[in-house]
Amino acid sequence: MSNSLVDKTIIECQNLDQYFDDGDTRVDIFQGLNLEIKQGERLAIVGASGSGKSTLLYMMGGLDHIKSGKVLLDGYDISQLNAKKLGILRNKTLGFVYQFHHLLAEFSALENVAMPLLIRGDSTAQATEKALYILDQVGLSHRVKHTPGELSGGERQRAAIARALVTNPKCLLADEPTGNLDNTTARQVYDLLIRLNEDRHISLVLVTHDEKLAASMDKVLLLHDGQLKPVSLAS
Ligand SMILES: Nc1ncnc2c1ncn2[C@@H]1O[C@H](COP(=O)(O)OP(=O)(O)OP(=O)(O)O)[C@@H](O)[C@H]1O
Ligand SMILES: [Mg+2]
Repeated sequence: MSNSLVDKTIIECQNLDQYFDDGDTRVDIFQGLNLEIKQGERLAIVGASGSGKSTLLYMMGGLDHIKSGKVLLDGYDISQLNAKKLGILRNKTLGFVYQFHHLLAEFSALENVAMPLLIRGDSTAQATEKALYILDQVGLSHRVKHTPGELSGGERQRAAIARALVTNPKCLLADEPTGNLDNTTARQVYDLLIRLNEDRHISLVLVTHDEKLAASMDKVLLLHDGQLKPVSLAS
C-alpha cells in the first residue's frame, strides 16, 4: 500500500464530548475524546455494553449532534456543514452499518441496496447493476427481491452491509457487522471486509465483540469510562 494513501486522514475526532441529560442528572458517555482514522486503516472498537460504542460511531458518522469538540470527515468540519452538504459528504465518504440493520421494510433487498446510489444521482440501471454485484459479494443473489421481513436476521445484516458498501466508500463504520451471523456467514463477511480493505484501501472501523475479527485489525481500542485505550488481544 502506498504511503500517501496510508497517511491521508479520513475521520478525526477532536476533544469530543457526549452526554445525555437524564432529568436533573447528566450522564457522561465520553469526555475529551480524540481519534484519528487514516485511509486504509483497520480499527476495532471494543467495550462493555453501554460504554458508548454505538454513540461514538454515530458521532463519527455525522449522525448525531455534536455538543462539544469537532469531527472532521475527509477534512471537513461537519458541524460547519448544513444538512444537505453533510448528507452529500456522508454519501460520498462513508458506509454505515447500524447495530440493528435499519433497512426500509417496504422495499426489496435490491431496492434498499440501490437506494444510496439513486440518492446520489445514479441511473436506475447503473444503481441496479452495482447493487446486484455487491449483493452477490455478500452471498444474497438468491434473495434480492425479498423485503427485510422476508429475510433472516443474518440475511438482513448482510443486506445492510451491501447497502453500506455499494457506494464504494472511503471508510466503513460498522456496528457489530457479524453480530447476528453464524460462524460460516460471519467468516464470509469478515473475508469480504478484509478483501475490500486490501484491494480498495477502505478504512474499517468496526465495533465488535468478535475476537477474531478484532484481532485482524491493525489496532484495537477499548472504550471504558469515556476514554479510548489501546488493547492488545492475545493471539
Ligand atoms: N438518546 C439517548 N438518550 C439517553 N441515553 C442514551 C441515548 N443513547 C444512548 N444512551 C445511553 O448511552 C450509553 C451508551 O449507549 P451505546 O448505545 O453507545 O452503548 P454501546 O457501547 O453501543 O452498547 P452495546 O454494546 O449494548 O450496543 C447507554 O448507557 C445508553 O443508555
Ligand atoms: Mg451498541
